[in-house]
Amino acid sequence: MISVAREAAPGPARQRRGFSRLRARGLVGFVLLAACSAPAERESFAPARIQRGAVVSAHPLATAVGIEVLELGGNAADAAVATALALAVVYPQAGNLGGGGFALWAAYGEDPIALDFREVAPRRARPELYLDEDGVLVDARSITGPLAVGVPGSPQGLYRLYEERGSGLVTWERLVAPAIALAEGGFIVDPWLEGTLRQASVAGRMNGAARERFYPLGAPLRAGERLVQPDLARTLKSYSEEGPAAFYGGWIAEALVRAIETEQVPGAGIAVDGALDLDDLAAYRVVWREPLRGRFQGKELIAMPSPSSGGLVVLQTLSILDGLPLGGEVLAAREAGLRGGVTATLAHWWIEALRASFADRATHMGDPEYYDVPMESLLSAKLILQRRVAIGPRANLEVGAWAPEPPPESPQTTHLSVIDVDGNAVALTTTLNSSFGSGILVRGAGFFLNNELDDFSIAAGVPNQYGLIGSQANALEAGKRPLSSMSPMIVRDDRGAVVLVLGSPGGPRIITAVMQVLLRVLLLEEDLHDAVRAPRLHQQWRPLETWFEADQGGGWDPELLEELAARGHPIEVVERSLGSVQAIAVDERGQPIATSDPRRGGAAGVTGRGVQAAAPRPAKD
Ligand code: DON
Repeated sequence: MISVAREAAPGPARQRRGFSRLRARGLVGFVLLAACSAPAERESFAPARIQRGAVVSAHPLATAVGIEVLELGGNAADAAVATALALAVVYPQAGNLGGGGFALWAAYGEDPIALDFREVAPRRARPELYLDEDGVLVDARSITGPLAVGVPGSPQGLYRLYEERGSGLVTWERLVAPAIALAEGGFIVDPWLEGTLRQASVAGRMNGAARERFYPLGAPLRAGERLVQPDLARTLKSYSEEGPAAFYGGWIAEALVRAIETEQVPGAGIAVDGALDLDDLAAYRVVWREPLRGRFQGKELIAMPSPSSGGLVVLQTLSILDGLPLGGEVLAAREAGLRGGVTATLAHWWIEALRASFADRATHMGDPEYYDVPMESLLSAKLILQRRVAIGPRANLEVGAWAPEPPPESPQTTHLSVIDVDGNAVALTTTLNSSFGSGILVRGAGFFLNNELDDFSIAAGVPNQYGLIGSQANALEAGKRPLSSMSPMIVRDDRGAVVLVLGSPGGPRIITAVMQVLLRVLLLEEDLHDAVRAPRLHQQWRPLETWFEADQGGGWDPELLEELAARGHPIEVVERSLGSVQAIAVDERGQPIATSDPRRGGAAGVTGRGVQAAAPRPAKD
């Protein structure tokens, strides 16, 4: 069921449209999108049941760029790419050229496909580089400075999404143009960007080039000020003219490697051999993968496979729940009008299912090309049933990971969702890992480099910045992709039509945030806006505590928390927000319902209806 198609031409979309790349190159700008050419292309494609297209992202200007591309006749892939590029300018905390991510593409009646443009560890990376002379792990080395940086995947990933799944009606140059304009002309800093720049951990990570741009005169940029990024505009222009070749070779690659070489390694004082170099950039390749597909409450879930852990954990957890008598709990919650919408029993089942799935994450998940991830065993009916019947009346804090039967002989991320009128959907999550990644802004090229190597389990059993522990499955190795929690998700109904597109930032909280919205929409039948705003919980096996949001969506019912505590659940009510979901649902009449999570502020847009910003709140996550 699960396979990896390395660099394979991913399916029939381009041929079906009979589109020639040369033809697109010959057509320029807005005029090429003459409406008259679009219907003929679409007739052979999908029965349109969506009344309008929609885009949801973390920034209103980026959402507006995506909406404009849809209104011009571009499809979901075109709009996703243009939105992601705009985010690289107006949402530099997480939008990026120097990071990586995952995208899912689903079209009506076609097999979906997953694009893995995750960063990889450089060829010379090895765990010893992260230890001091006494052999003790220096945590900061995987978070700050040159050894934190994985080979970026976004420039190749976004281009390949455009090339393989774009409509063919919009030129590459047209998709990059809005990002160039925003970098060159500038945009107004919002309270979210100011808030992130003010965080001490962020300010402390920033290199000299980043401080000059984002802390002019030594103080963070303030909301209301204009941020102009001429270096980034120059990079985007080369990218627009030459595609990813401009980034993985030539002046941008040279500037990137120079930036790495001139940074200090925490606790070492000097640049250490082993950071990424020009050969690593030249060798970078995206991977097209077959998505994981599962079912919950009669709907098909399309999810990201390894090296994401998100798809596996969501499918495992929801499969465990699906066989429990959920209906009675839903009715009981409805009748009692419970705050948070779930009974203590339902919350208990959910937390226990999460605990077991995250135990498997810590033990069995990593890059499938370096570690034999037992995906089929982890999703097998046998294990799901074992997990389900093992849920007792009380919390089981001792639950362990799946153990293979003895073998016969030997052994600040950001998400955007798009749907177009043909029913094509893209769920794309991209990340620099921490806000502004490693804090290294490439001097002269104007983009930040990720600190994705902290997503590896650099020392077994030692938690990373998200408190996640890991094992050999996710050990750092040259050329390997670090395990991710990013969980872009698409849901289709029994006719194969997309009904939900979603995703979130938040490290491991991504998995529970996405799952929570799925549970609320598919099981509790909540309206999407309510489901996104409802209070969230989070459980990741270690630490033992389950977190409950204190004040989002009215918070949780204290009686529910007391009842869970009585069942043996360690509980922590947290001030911080858990994730930030950007989601689109399609209702019975084919109308898209687009909603952006108010937790971190973003904006939802529907074609012909404009863009609506989520209410701003101070960033805490
Ligand atoms: O891939 C991962 O799991 C992490 N690099 C994601 C980091 C993240 O979501 C940070 N956002 N708040």
